[in-house]
Amino acid sequence: MSDLGKRIAQAADIVTVALDELLPRADGPESRLTEAMRYAALGPGKRLRPFFALETGKMFDLPERPVLRAACALECIHAYSLVHDDLPAMDDDDMRRGRPTVHVQYDEATAILAGDSLQTAAFEIMAHPDTHDDGHVRSELVRKLAIASGARGMCGGQMIDLLGVRDDLGAVARMQRLKTGALIAFAFEIPLIIGRAKEAERAALMGFAQDLGLAYQIVDDILDAEGDEATLGKAAGKDAAKGKANYVTLLGLDAAKERVELLAAQTKAHLDIFGDRADHLRESVDFVLDRRN
Ligand code: IPE
Ligand code: IPE
Ligand code: MG
Ligand code: MG
Ligand code: MG
Repeated sequence: MSDLGKRIAQAADIVTVALDELLPRADGPESRLTEAMRYAALGPGKRLRPFFALETGKMFDLPERPVLRAACALECIHAYSLVHDDLPAMDDDDMRRGRPTVHVQYDEATAILAGDSLQTAAFEIMAHPDTHDDGHVRSELVRKLAIASGARGMCGGQMIDLLGVRDDLGAVARMQRLKTGALIAFAFEIPLIIGRAKEAERAALMGFAQDLGLAYQIVDDILDAEGDEATLGKAAGKDAAKGKANYVTLLGLDAAKERVELLAAQTKAHLDIFGDRADHLRESVDFVLDRRN
């Protein structure tokens, strides 16, 4: 495994252990709900959003604990978004991370509640005094995560996705930035907020995150078109079948791949002001965009 592959795997392990401790367990009949939450959040995901937060935290020499707790909160929101995205009312998918989706493994009502409770767990973790001594920092983390998750972020993008809006590429790019870019960008907001970063650093890292988020979703759409279920751990070929509007269904595979190449170069250029300190982030761009699942 490459050095970067090891760093990503190591971060994923740290995050999974922390999430396991943070997520509730319950006795009694409600244990069905906490089990479903744990099934959704602790399954074999890549944990890339937490990796980005932790790696950027290291770049700013921040202590690990606040960044890790905030990254766990973000991962709970991501897990909730996947549980709801897979529901019959949305993408209607049976497989996720190589296993049955939550509504297949449990049932639809449990999947809705597990998503709801992962969302509230995220804010409980974020607002807890253990996340940061300074209440202002905590409230800024909560506020920015709420914006990234809600109607002006992930949920807004999911709405546009379901409507199949295909006016032009600009509208599709906006949808991608909302549904996927907003949560990826929040991974970089975490160290910026905790480290009280300078404005120039903030602007550079947010530009980086925006382009990375868009490229990440285009790669997801390319993988949907040319990957297979065994490698992806989720169904392939669904976007065309469901009439989704994305770079692949609008432009075709080759043009979508060209966009990713262009975006990869543009994404890395935002990091120039950090010099060598950002080498790991630069490398991770190619790594996540060359992924097979
Ligand atoms: C899948 O996200 C949904 C998208 C926003 C593209 P990931 O590719 O990060 O999925 P996991 O967490 O590794 O399963
Ligand atoms: C999902 O996009 C983005 C979310 C906000 C969950 P997709 O619907 O393309 O994600 P997959 O392909 O099911 O993982
Ligand atoms: Mg979807
Ligand atoms: Mg989906
Ligand atoms: Mg997809």
